[in-house]
Amino acid sequence: MQDLLHEIEKFCLRHDMSETRFGELAMNDKPFVSQLKSGRDLRSSTATKLREFMAEYDAREPAKGANPNRYPAGRLAFPHRDLLGIAQLERHEILYLLDEAEPWIELNRQSSKHADLLSGLTIINAFFENSTRTLLSFEIAGKRLGADVVNMHAAQSSVKKGETLIDTAITLNAMRPDAIVIRHASSGATQLIADKVDCPVLNAGDGQHEHPTQGLLDSLALRHALRARGEKADDFTGLTITICGDILHSRVARSTLLCLQALGASVRLCAPPALMPVGVEAMGVEPFHDFDAALSGSDVVMMLRLQTERMEGQFIPSPREYHHLYGLTKERLTRAAPDALVMHPGPMNRGVEIDSDVADMLDRSIITRQVEMGVAIRMACLDILTRSARKVEGWA
Ligand code: CP
Repeated sequence: MQDLLHEIEKFCLRHDMSETRFGELAMNDKPFVSQLKSGRDLRSSTATKLREFMAEYDAREPAKGANPNRYPAGRLAFPHRDLLGIAQLERHEILYLLDEAEPWIELNRQSSKHADLLSGLTIINAFFENSTRTLLSFEIAGKRLGADVVNMHAAQSSVKKGETLIDTAITLNAMRPDAIVIRHASSGATQLIADKVDCPVLNAGDGQHEHPTQGLLDSLALRHALRARGEKADDFTGLTITICGDILHSRVARSTLLCLQALGASVRLCAPPALMPVGVEAMGVEPFHDFDAALSGSDVVMMLRLQTERMEGQFIPSPREYHHLYGLTKERLTRAAPDALVMHPGPMNRGVEIDSDVADMLDRSIITRQVEMGVAIRMACLDILTRSARKVEGWA
């Protein structure tokens, strides 16, 4: 029943349709959905009829997209225990996370930044790879929400004594945390851990797979920058965004690309042939090897560093050559749209993929805004994913 109600909620959002109208169209019974929610019995033949109606309607009518100010009630707004990737999220769930982050941006700009929402809860940040931004912002996010936050650094852990990832997960789980945040060098490691523990797991970057909170914070930072310019920016429809750099090894590229596309942007990926994954066209992006061509008409340029720690062998002739062809210089930025915004998830290698006089442009670079939004988005994610444990009404 809950699954069917969830499907109906998502259908209504897709088609910007009220539940009353849904009941009228599907069953000739306007209060049908509200009665279902109040416990009305549902025969399996009726469930089949409803699903057939939705499938036929989906095939006939193009989706209108979610109204960003309207979400399903309670946990139907975000019905996931974990946050492992953007690929598992619906457009309205992404918008929900962004909207839920807004109040935290305001709190973070005040001198007193404390909330008690997660008081008594324990969050473990288990980082098996280096991090500055993600680790610190998850730690700050948890502490600002009142949780007890513990950081596990792999270099000082029993992983160094040969303990497996699964045994580590079982060990952390036995300490009864209320959320675990994981960064790991292996793609899929966070899913492996999520399968072994009883609490929500948040992926803070797994190998070349995903870095979902980065995709979300990038979207939030872009939305804020556009709104600061007076644009409505309910989504990114009409924007052309170029992501340039080491696409092959980048989990950021994947998560950010998925977020931007879900919000309507046209995304161009630019990389040397050796650093472009095969088959990216299937992801609905335009691939480029010529950075100048990719920049032409771009409204936003996101630069990525070369992930040398994931490279086996020689992928580029030299950093100097790479900068010549793929470095974002002030001169090269003139090829993009006037006022094009510049983004970078960090850490930056100045003078390689981006020049300092571009990274530090006050009116164009939103790199520090990305970092700021990282704390707010992580506060939103920790809040939402612990609502079930906190028995928040509608989420238990
Ligand atoms: N963007 C990002 O993930 O940075 P860190 O590696 O510093 O966390």
